[in-house]
Amino acid sequence: MSKQISGFSKFTKEEKIDWLASNFFTDKNQGVNTLKNYWNSDKELQKLHDEFIENTVSNFYIPYGIAPNFVINGKDYTIPMAIEESSVVAAASLVAKFWSTRGGFKTTVISTTKIGQVHFMFNGNEKDLNNYFNSIKPELFNATNDITKNMRKRGGGILDMELRNKTNDLENYYQLHVTFETKDSMGANFINTCLETIANHFKNTSKLNIEIVMSILSNYVPDCLVRAEVQCNVEDLYKEDATYYAKKFINALNIANAEPHRAVTHNKGIMNGIDAVVLATGNDFRAVEAGVHAYASRKGKYQSLSNAKIENGIFSFWLEIPLALGTVGGLTKLHPLAKLSLEMLQNPSAKELMGIVAVVGLAQNFAALRALTTTGIQSGHMKMHLGNIIKQLTTDKKEVAYLLDYFENKPISHSGVAAVFEKMKS
Ligand code: MEV
Repeated sequence: MSKQISGFSKFTKEEKIDWLASNFFTDKNQGVNTLKNYWNSDKELQKLHDEFIENTVSNFYIPYGIAPNFVINGKDYTIPMAIEESSVVAAASLVAKFWSTRGGFKTTVISTTKIGQVHFMFNGNEKDLNNYFNSIKPELFNATNDITKNMRKRGGGILDMELRNKTNDLENYYQLHVTFETKDSMGANFINTCLETIANHFKNTSKLNIEIVMSILSNYVPDCLVRAEVQCNVEDLYKEDATYYAKKFINALNIANAEPHRAVTHNKGIMNGIDAVVLATGNDFRAVEAGVHAYASRKGKYQSLSNAKIENGIFSFWLEIPLALGTVGGLTKLHPLAKLSLEMLQNPSAKELMGIVAVVGLAQNFAALRALTTTGIQSGHMKMHLGNIIKQLTTDKKEVAYLLDYFENKPISHSGVAAVFEKMKS
């Protein structure tokens, strides 16, 4: 039977749910109840969420956790993280505490330039195109004056416009490569509106045969770059055999630089932290993901985003990452939790937020590499898993302590823990 439908967007929410239930849910009532259980009882709040996207039928919760004790550039931060994966927030919190007694994290915003492009085809004399572009360039800026007025007041706007010949990559392909400063906003709408205005003016004023293909921002922002770093004496890094483990840590990094399979997982660990804060602050994590991974491949090979070295007994560990973030616009102030996240972060500027996000990525990477090169990753995960199994069996403090102790160095499975629990009880 066909599951095609027309006019779905015109259905009311109830009608949409009915249609879903009749077509897809084995137990209709249960399916409908599950969707409705996630509705917010505050009707206004639910309406707000319904209207963020289209065809909304429910909300999809992701845990919102807190990692306290970060010290960044000498200032204390408590960081909100929206993520479904266990251990990530715990790791961030542990690492935050660890580095808080070793000078904390330092961040530097290297650059904040964003990019947009008007892609077009031109099958003619390149000189004519160059002459036309050079003559029209001031007018292209003028055409956007109304749109850029407020941004210019805040110190942003269009920085430059270049005509780029891309015909070596694709026949007849040229572009206007435009750079922007968007201050505290991520700037996607601003950039796209500017680009479409520029494209119209560029085409309509010309006698040349220019065919505009599209105008859109680029999520590859290698010049919107932030650095996060930590440093300490090698001896302060581990309780025992510090030099041995510090070298092992650096070897793990070298492997991520040498081997793309490892680099992807290594960077995934970094993104555990980055995405969680990006999401909690109402920013666009897909844009960040796409841009970050392109950056990790900038040398023609996918590599680690982080680096480490030991020099004169000092261990340094750092990360440089492109991040296009906003603290105004988009969902940042519209989504009540995103707004609250920014409040928790002491209402940072976009630049400060770039630093905070990069720090959490670095912290996550530190936690992962430290675990991987010492105890292995599973022991921490399994401890969490053990906690969850025990929670289902008992909340009695003595019993919990007994089970935790019993399974300290033993393999963990639900049936194993349940068996020991039964034996203990009898
Ligand atoms: C798991 O979500 C992330 C790690 O795999 C990262 C890493 O291997 O570096 C632990």
